[in-house]
Amino acid sequence: MKQQLEAIRDNAVKELAQAKGQQVLETLRVKYLGKKGELTSILKQMGGLSAEERPVIGQLANQVRSLIEEELTKRAAELKEQAQQARLEQERLDVTLPGKRRELGAKHPLSIVLDEIKEIFVGMGFEIVDGPEVEYDYYNFEALNIPKNHPARDTQDTFYINDNIVLRTQTSPVQVRVMEKTQPPIRIISPGRVYRSDAVDATHSPLFHQIEGLVVDRGITFAHLKDTLETFVKRLYGEDSVVRFRPHHFPFTEPSAEVDVQCFNCHGEGCRLCKGEGWIEILGCGMVHPKVLSNCGIDPEVYSGFALGMGLERVVMRRYNIDDLRLFYENDIRFLKQF
Ligand code: DAH
Repeated sequence: MKQQLEAIRDNAVKELAQAKGQQVLETLRVKYLGKKGELTSILKQMGGLSAEERPVIGQLANQVRSLIEEELTKRAAELKEQAQQARLEQERLDVTLPGKRRELGAKHPLSIVLDEIKEIFVGMGFEIVDGPEVEYDYYNFEALNIPKNHPARDTQDTFYINDNIVLRTQTSPVQVRVMEKTQPPIRIISPGRVYRSDAVDATHSPLFHQIEGLVVDRGITFAHLKDTLETFVKRLYGEDSVVRFRPHHFPFTEPSAEVDVQCFNCHGEGCRLCKGEGWIEILGCGMVHPKVLSNCGIDPEVYSGFALGMGLERVVMRRYNIDDLRLFYENDIRFLKQF
């Protein structure tokens, strides 16, 4: 029996020394020390020993048990240490590897110019207001003197949500919302996204930006409109800019005009930039139609006003000589970094 015990001890020590992993250790613990383990089955036979042998074998058995327990604990600690080392090794940081560069953005060209435009108007006492992009047909068309059967609707290919709700095709509905809520004096600009069901190409996008302007007060005349726009254009494009007003038609203004700036590239000679025209159209404007005023609860006998609307993309394309509108929306960092 003594030999059996010694054999168990030697085997256990050997096996434990080779054990890899906590699970193997647990199996070995059960194999040697468990209720049905090897040591236990030896101890069960101790009844058959003589009185002299029993304490001797008993003592040995206890020593073997303690030894195996100690070895188990020792090996468990070793394995834990090894696992820790392996993890440290695996997760080691090589500080000499090139890092993942996080590209730092820059202000988008549309925002750069929009901020300038805002500043110019704020400098003239305008307030900046926002309006919803999902808009009622009433605000986008009806209240602006564009009833359901009006031909002007055909020029604005509209995304309809349902019969009464559209993605706004222009920022002009903000005029109506402001006038409904505020009595004059009113001096606001309202920049924002507008939507038209246009196919994408170098000069068209189903989403683009407009800036709306509105002034309503007693005694506002076309002279105020002309002076405001001339001041604006000179601040935006330089003091030597030349501005031209051309008669036009908008349903919500009367009279209406379009404003051109003399091409700053060729100074009116005609070039590629202005397509040989010598002039570049930048916005639409006019005196707010009396019907629009009264639609919004403002008495046209007492008040008058002017309004304007311009497309931001065009202004920015001219400013930076960008020939493809799509570049604005592609978020290619190489393009955006140039401004
Ligand atoms: N909303 C017009 C458009 O999208 C632009 C415009 C023209 C706005 C004249 C105005 C205006 O406020 O008076 O084409």
